[in-house]
Amino acid sequence: MAGTTEAVAAAKRAAGYQAAGMVEDEMVIGLGTGSTVLYMIERLSGRVRDGLSVSGVPTSYQTAMKAREYGIPLTTLDDNPVLDLAIDGADQIDPQLRMIKGRGAALTREKCVAAAAFRFIVVADDTKMVSRLSGVVPVETIPFATKTAMGQLRGLGCRPFIREAVKKDGPVITDNGNFIVDCQFDEIADPAALEAALAMIPGVVESGLFTRFSKNTTVIIGNEKKCKVLTSADVVP
Ligand code: A5P
Repeated sequence: MAGTTEAVAAAKRAAGYQAAGMVEDEMVIGLGTGSTVLYMIERLSGRVRDGLSVSGVPTSYQTAMKAREYGIPLTTLDDNPVLDLAIDGADQIDPQLRMIKGRGAALTREKCVAAAAFRFIVVADDTKMVSRLSGVVPVETIPFATKTAMGQLRGLGCRPFIREAVKKDGPVITDNGNFIVDCQFDEIADPAALEAALAMIPGVVESGLFTRFSKNTTVIIGNEKKCKVLTSADVVP
């Protein structure tokens, strides 16, 4: 069953459920986006029904809608600018717990929420673990400056493509009203330097590179039998 769709789903569920078990009474938490987080929300809703008091800052309309459906109280970063923890998924995680996120186009709010949290818990199946970050880095850009930003993105050595919507003509529009430019890199030699360089481009709102959270990150790699947990203590210098 390893590697099958069912196995991946089971791994995601195991990771999501384990993360939901780490939420404590009265916590205010960041709720990430994606299929693994949805399992966490599912399990957390059971704990809320059993009396756990918690509120969550959602990182997308998808998450907000699912949390409401599951009876998890919601709040905002305005009302709770400091979060106890944030729980989110990832697309790639390297041995230094640096990540690429943004397949679901929620990367900007996800990064804001991760930055507001004391602790960042990342839930994933083991297909997300890589020896080196590579490939596509999603970048959110304001429509007004997307063309000029793409020129500068090319200058950083990638091939940028505006992400096209499915079931809508034209580009993906993020929950913030912006575009996503998927930047195809042949290699990412220095992820932290690339994240900083991307942030310097006018018109770029955020990138899907998450390189600054390793010290307070816990990664839960799902497994039906026993999840593997990685923390900063496991980071190879
Ligand atoms: C959303 O924009 C993404 O960052 C997701 O968190 C990431 O793609 C992981 O998604 P899955 O849990 O669905 O794999």
